[in-house]
Parts: sequence; C-alpha cells; structure tokens
Amino acid sequence: MVLITGVLCDLTPEEQQELDSIQRRKQELLADIQRLKVEIAEVTHEIESLGLTEERKNIHKSKQVAMGRKKFNMDPKKGIQFMIENGLLKSTCEDIAQFLYKGEGLNKTAIGDYLGERDDLNIHVLHIFVELHEFMDLNLVQALRQFLWSFRLPGEAQKIDRMMETFAQRYCQCNPEVFQSTDTCYILSFAIIMLNTSLHNPNVKDKPSVDRFIAMNRGINNGGDLPEELLRNLYDSIKNEPFKIPQDDGNDLTHTFFNPDREGWLLKLGGGRVKTWKRRWFILTDNCLYYFEYTTDKEPRGIIPLENLGIQEVEDSKKNNCFELFIPDNKDQVIKACKTEADGRVVEGNHTVYRISAASPEEKEEWIKCIKAAISKDPFYEMLAARKKKVSSIKRN
Ligand SMILES: *[C@@H]1O[C@H](CO)[C@@H](O)[C@H](O)[C@H]1NC(C)=O
Ligand SMILES: *[C@@H]1O[C@H](CO)[C@@H](O)[C@H](O)[C@H]1NC(C)=O
Ligand SMILES: *[C@@H]1O[C@H](CO)[C@@H](O)[C@H](O)[C@H]1NC(C)=O
Repeated sequence: MVLITGVLCDLTPEEQQELDSIQRRKQELLADIQRLKVEIAEVTHEIESLGLTEERKNIHKSKQVAMGRKKFNMDPKKGIQFMIENGLLKSTCEDIAQFLYKGEGLNKTAIGDYLGERDDLNIHVLHIFVELHEFMDLNLVQALRQFLWSFRLPGEAQKIDRMMETFAQRYCQCNPEVFQSTDTCYILSFAIIMLNTSLHNPNVKDKPSVDRFIAMNRGINNGGDLPEELLRNLYDSIKNEPFKIPQDDGNDLTHTFFNPDREGWLLKLGGGRVKTWKRRWFILTDNCLYYFEYTTDKEPRGIIPLENLGIQEVEDSKKNNCFELFIPDNKDQVIKACKTEADGRVVEGNHTVYRISAASPEEKEEWIKCIKAAISKDPFYEMLAARKKKVSSIKRN
C-alpha cells in the first residue's frame, strides 16, 4: 500500500493526466467491445433465425413435392395441377415434360397415362418429352430400349400409335440417314418388339431365325430393302438381351398390343330346353372365350371361338347388363363352339346366340370392348398393315 501510494505520489501531473486518459480510453474501448458483442449476438441470432425459416421453407417445399408426386401417381392430371398451384412447377409444356422426363419418384404407368391423353396440352408435352431423348448415333434397338424404359406404354391402340409415331419422328430427326421415312422406322420398331417376344417369351415355341427376320422386313424402306447388316445387328442385339419395360408384369408389349385379355365372373344363359342362368368364370384369350365352373378348374366347361362372331348389347327381362354373341347375317345357325357335359363328354354347343349378363354396367362395357377387340381384326394389325401398304407402294407410284 505504501509502495503504491508512493508510486502514485511519484507521478508528475502530466503523467497523471496521461494515465487518466489511458484509463478513459480503456473504458471506452471496453464499452465499444461490449456494444459490438451485443450487436454480433443480435446479428448472429438474426442469421440463425433466417437460416431456420429458410430451412423450414425447404422442408415444407420438399414435403409438398412428395405430396405432388404421390398425387401424380394416383391421378397424373391432378398431380400436375397440384404442383403448378403450389408453385412447384411452372405451367409450361417444357417444364411438365422435364418433370416427367426426370421422373423422380414417379410411377411410370402414371407417366404413360399422362403422355397418352388426347388433350392438346398432353400431346404437346408428349412431343417435348420425346425430344428430350437423345438418339443420335444409337441404333433403333438402343433407342427403343431408352424410350420404352422412360415410361410404361398404355394399353390403348390409339395412344400407342401416337407415342410410337412421335418416337419414330424423333429417331429419324436424330438419325436422318438411316430410314427413308418415319413409317419405315415405325414399322421396324414394332417388328423388333414382336421379335423380342418371339425370341424371349417361353410360351412362343417358334423362334424366328435372323434370315426370317430379314425376309419379314423386305420392302419396308419405301419399297426398297433395308441393309441386311442393319437388320442383323438389331436382331443380334435383341437376341443377346431382351427388352426391359418398367413394371414388367409378365405381359410383354406384344401382349399389350395384340391381346386385350380379360377374366371374371359372368352369368350365362343355358342353351338347353330349360333356359337357366349359370354363374361361370370367363377367360378371354387367344381370340376365344373360355368358361369354367370354378376359377381353379383346369378344364373349361365350354369354349367359344370368337372368329366371325358379332357382339351387341341386349335387354333381358330377367337380368341386367346383358350382351349377346351372335353370327352376323345368320339368325338360325348354331355357333361353332363346344362344351363338356356333366359326365365328361365333350359335345358341340347348341347356341344360336350366347346371352351373357355382367355384374355392373361398367363390367358389361369392359367385356364388350375387350371381346370386340378380340373379334375385330386387331386395330394394331390394321394400323401396321396400312403403313406397310403405304411404304411398299411408294416405289411403284
Ligand atoms: C404404378 O401404378 C400401377 C397402376 O396404378 C400399379 O399397378 C403399380 O404397382 C405401380 N408401381 C409402383 C412401383 O408403385
Ligand atoms: C421382351 O421379352 C421379355 C420376355 O418375354 C419380356 O419380359 C419383356 O417385357 C419384353 N419386352 C417388351 C418391350 O415387350
Ligand atoms: C339344340 O336345341 C334345339 C332347340 O333349342 C333342340 O331342338 C335340339 O335338340 C338341340 N340339339 C342338341 C344336340 O342338343
């Protein structure tokens, strides 16, 4: 204490002044630092809370995107509408097409349904979607692999036709030297898809050779032949590796194009003298209608080949939702069909018409549609045949 007092006492007035000013500056500095600290704390807090809301916004957004995808997978149109309304997607065909092309979290069946719709908007989106595919320097099989993997083709002939036409246009745009016309590309695409089934489906016993494949595609290049080398390459590619389609349910595309099969319970009016309605399990396949007593039966009770038959809706006094199979222009002739008697004998059927009743108007419509498709020459064969005729006649004209 003595010492300190002594020291203090030893200061000259100037020194004392200087010391005081140093002390003051120190105080001021400390106050400044304190203020800065508070400011920093405030700013940091602001930044943190800013980050938090940003983060919260992001979480909210990704939740909405997930919701949009879910909605899309259940109902594509509603899903797209939801995304647009919530600012997750711009309302332009380009943006929608991009969204589908990326396809993240989207069900490929739903993508196919959306792209297949007949509205102008959907058709426009389809075109942009297909143009997002890059096919330059790919052979047709490689391009088809890419294309058919990006969505699942819907089952309806008109839709498939539109989509495959768009594909053929894009392929020819990317590879202008390969085919004489988009029709050639279209026809060959179908030939390749059918080749895939012939070569890889175990139910198809008859496996075409490469020479037969080449022969089958004669004249499709606007009347001329495609280079054998090209066809051989495509054949080998398919032979070495089957086409994959998304959500492969065992029904390959050939099945989708050419067999609108169906099965289910229906009531059938008996052909005997006493007419009774019997519940039967019907299976429509291979252009025939088979019916069984039980779903698990191995042998059908009856087989009705659909060739040359007609189908029409009819009113029945006892049953709703009826339709009839009949022979056009031939009222009294018995329909060529067979059935198994209770004792196991197989006998010819004795129906001039088959009258059938479905459980609901919707089921009736579906059955009529599918049976019509099976009866009429398949719309696909017709569409393909028309194009083949077109490309093979060009040379002559
Ligand atoms: C996609 O949708 C189809 C039809 O709704 C459905 O059968 C299929 O299981 C779905 N696929 C996936 C992976 O969810
Ligand atoms: C190709 O054949 C395989 C085997 O039958 C089948 O799983 C696949 O779906 C077929 N691909 C197309 C595009 O039809
Ligand atoms: C077929 O039905 C007609 C009348 O509906 C009957 O007269 C005829 O005997 C039947 N034939 C057979 C083989 O059951």
